[in-house]
Amino acid sequence: MEKIGIFYGSTGGSTKSVAERVAKAFGNRAELHDIKDSTPEMINGYKYLIFGTSAWGIGDMQDDWEYFIYELDQINFEGKKVALFGLGDQAEYADSFVDGLGTLYCRLPDKDVVVGQWPLDGYKFAFSLAEKDGSFVGLVIDEENQAGQTDARVKKWVKMLEAEFV
Ligand SMILES: Cc1cc2nc3c(=O)[nH]c(=O)nc-3n(C[C@H](O)[C@H](O)[C@H](O)COP(=O)(O)O)c2cc1C
Repeated sequence: MEKIGIFYGSTGGSTKSVAERVAKAFGNRAELHDIKDSTPEMINGYKYLIFGTSAWGIGDMQDDWEYFIYELDQINFEGKKVALFGLGDQAEYADSFVDGLGTLYCRLPDKDVVVGQWPLDGYKFAFSLAEKDGSFVGLVIDEENQAGQTDARVKKWVKMLEAEFV
């Protein structure tokens, strides 16, 4: 079975922890990489990819993704499938909820490769760059306000992705 490359950027460790839980749910198919130690070649080596970022400031991705984002142009996304997840805080940042996820999506050179869209139900926010056509562009996790739901959300999302990463 094709391996899955998970590339995450995490400042305080929450996104890393979610990335680890996603990897665990996939069993030994998934390989974890911190984006700060990654290269375009590493990403190019996978057909199935998962990118994860937290949100910082209005529209900002996690810092290491901010630095890496220019390298995305060196990746050939043809034939790949990419799922995204983002962390944010809907109570404190209701006007820019998971904007890092939305910005990461916007910066992808090819949007057709994106799978794993996630429903808006169960979140309360005013605006999010990650919202598109009535869904989030990827899994949304809020460890500040809804940590108790994270494991169930991860499991459900991984089940959805298993139908895509075949
Ligand atoms: C200074 C600061 C700015 C933040 N800005 C946003 C934001 O604009 N939108 C949002 O949804 N969350 C925002 N957050 C919440 C973080 O994205 C959230 O705490 C996340 O879990 C951090 O993950 P990490 O530790 O893996 O980087 C912010 C947090 C801090 C401390």
